[in-house]
Amino acid sequence: MRVKQVRIIGMGAGDPEWMTVQAINALNAADVLFFFDKGEDKEELLGLRREICGRFLTHDRHRIVEAQDPQRDLSGPAYGAAVSSWQDQRVALWEQLIETELADGEVGAVLTWGDPAFYDGTLRILESVRIRGASDLAYDAIPGISALQALASRHNIALTQTASSVVVTTGRQLREIWATGISDVVVMVDPACSFMELADHDTMIYWGAFLGTPDEILLRGTIAQRGAEIQRRRIEARAAKGWMFDTYLLRRQR
Ligand SMILES: C[S@@+](CC[C@H](N)C(=O)[O-])C[C@H]1O[C@@H](n2cnc3c(N)ncnc32)[C@H](O)[C@@H]1O
Repeated sequence: MRVKQVRIIGMGAGDPEWMTVQAINALNAADVLFFFDKGEDKEELLGLRREICGRFLTHDRHRIVEAQDPQRDLSGPAYGAAVSSWQDQRVALWEQLIETELADGEVGAVLTWGDPAFYDGTLRILESVRIRGASDLAYDAIPGISALQALASRHNIALTQTASSVVVTTGRQLREIWATGISDVVVMVDPACSFMELADHDTMIYWGAFLGTPDEILLRGTIAQRGAEIQRRRIEARAAKGWMFDTYLLRRQR
């Protein structure tokens, strides 16, 4: 039995030109391309994956396999339990897809948003599938341009200051991280605009929504100057598109 392989390709966080040469080569070398439908409001994300394939694939010898991504319900208080049951469903789905859609010796590929190293469960899921052992599986990750780098590039700033640290976190952890006194924090996945809860409203915020796409919005200033505007623009843009991706850097004033 020859090993089945899955390549997790970082596709960049919005601009098709953020596909690296390595990512393009891996896409072209795959026998099977996996696409996951995440529901209607995320159709645009699937659209970008198709655009990338249309633009960078140089042949049509691959098979395309589409699957419905399990929906997650994170509205309840048991956030951790909801994420873990959702991950279990994704493991089961991936296991089934690898078993039925990938022949021995074949290479599958999946385009993951940004870089698979940041807030993306695909590596963890494939490790679980590998351990369960239904198929003889190998996987690897190809880096992409993350929203972190996109944010820095669009604002023309470095995320790290001289000899200091930056923490990458989510809105849920922000208050706790900020209380440690760290000077620079990048926040992803923050529907609640948690920066508004911080006491230090003279902190600089560099905010970016839909980075690298035609709908990109960039705002910067202190939280006192820009916080309320960011909240308003976020609500408006989310209502117009049906979904929202935003990331920001908080930088304490020295
Ligand atoms: C599930 S995480 C995936 C991150 C992705 N792996 C990466 O490296 O960018 C999704 C979060 O990433 C951030 N994000 C991804 N793409 C973005 C974009 N184009 N503009 C702003 N934020 C983005 C947002 O915070 C969003 O909630």
